[in-house]
Amino acid sequence: MNDKFILILGAGPNVGQHVAKKFAANGYKVAVSSRSGGSPVSEDYLSVKADFADPTTVASAFKQIRETWGDPSVVVYNAAGAHFGHADDAFSIPLEKFREDLSVNVSSLYAAMQETVNGWKNLPTTLPKVFIFTGNLLNVAGARPALLTLGVGKTAAAHLIEGAVKSYGSHGYRFYYADERNPNGTPVGTSPDAKAHAEAYFQLAEDPEQRPWDYTFVKFKGFTKF
Ligand SMILES: NC(=O)c1ccc[n+]([C@@H]2O[C@H](COP(=O)([O-])OP(=O)(O)OC[C@H]3O[C@@H](n4cnc5c(N)ncnc54)[C@H](OP(=O)(O)O)[C@@H]3O)[C@@H](O)[C@H]2O)c1
Repeated sequence: MNDKFILILGAGPNVGQHVAKKFAANGYKVAVSSRSGGSPVSEDYLSVKADFADPTTVASAFKQIRETWGDPSVVVYNAAGAHFGHADDAFSIPLEKFREDLSVNVSSLYAAMQETVNGWKNLPTTLPKVFIFTGNLLNVAGARPALLTLGVGKTAAAHLIEGAVKSYGSHGYRFYYADERNPNGTPVGTSPDAKAHAEAYFQLAEDPEQRPWDYTFVKFKGFTKF
C-alpha cells in the first residue's frame, strides 16, 4: 500500500485521461472517479462512481479506494459544475442549480482535501503528497455574471488551496490551483490542453518543493507569472 498512487476526481476524456496515462507511464497506480466512473478507463485503473453534487459521496469514494489500495499520495480535483446564467441577469440561475454547482466546485472539493490530508497522515514520508485543483482565470478575473457559479467556485477553490498551503505547508504537503493560460495571459477557452496539464501535474507531483500555489502555466513553457 506504499506505492505511488494518484487519484483523479472528475476524470473525463480530456485532462483526467491524459493525467492518468502520464502518471501510469511513470509508475503510479491510478484511481479515477466521476459519475460514469471515469470513462474511458484502462483495465488497470481503479474506477469509482461518485457524483460530487452530493459532497457526502466524497467520503464514500475515499473509503472504497482506501479499502482497496490505501490512501492516494497525489490527488487531482478536476470536476467542475457550471450552469450558465444570463449576462444581464446574474441571478437567473435557479437556486437548486446554484447549490449543485457550489457542491461540485466547493463543498466536495473541501471534503476531498479533508480526506486527502487525513490520509496523508498514514503515508510514509518518502511519498510525494500533492493536491492539484484544475482551475482557470476566474479566481482573479472579477465577476462574469453568466458564469457566476463557476466563478464563485473557482474563487473559493483558490482560497481553499491557499489556506491549505498556509496550514499544512510545514508538513511538506503541497497544494496547487493550476490555471492554464495562453502565452499572453488570456484564458485558453473551453478546451484546456490535456497533454500540457499532464506534463505540468507530473512536474508538480515530482518536485519536492512547493512552487507558487497559484500555478498559472503555459503549454510547452511551464509556470508563467501574469
Ligand atoms: N485553464 C482554463 O482556462 C480552463 C479551460 C477550460 C476548462 N478548465 C477546467 O478544466 C476542468 C475540466 O476539464 P476537462 O477538459 O478535463 O473536462 P472533462 O474531460 O469533461 O472532464 C471532467 C469530468 O468531470 C466529471 N464530472 C463532472 N461533474 C461531476 C460530478 N458532479 N461528479 C463527479 N464527476 C463529475 C465528468 O465525468 P462524468 O460525466 O462521468 O461525471 C467529466 O468528464 C474543469 O475544472 C474546468 O473548469 C480550465
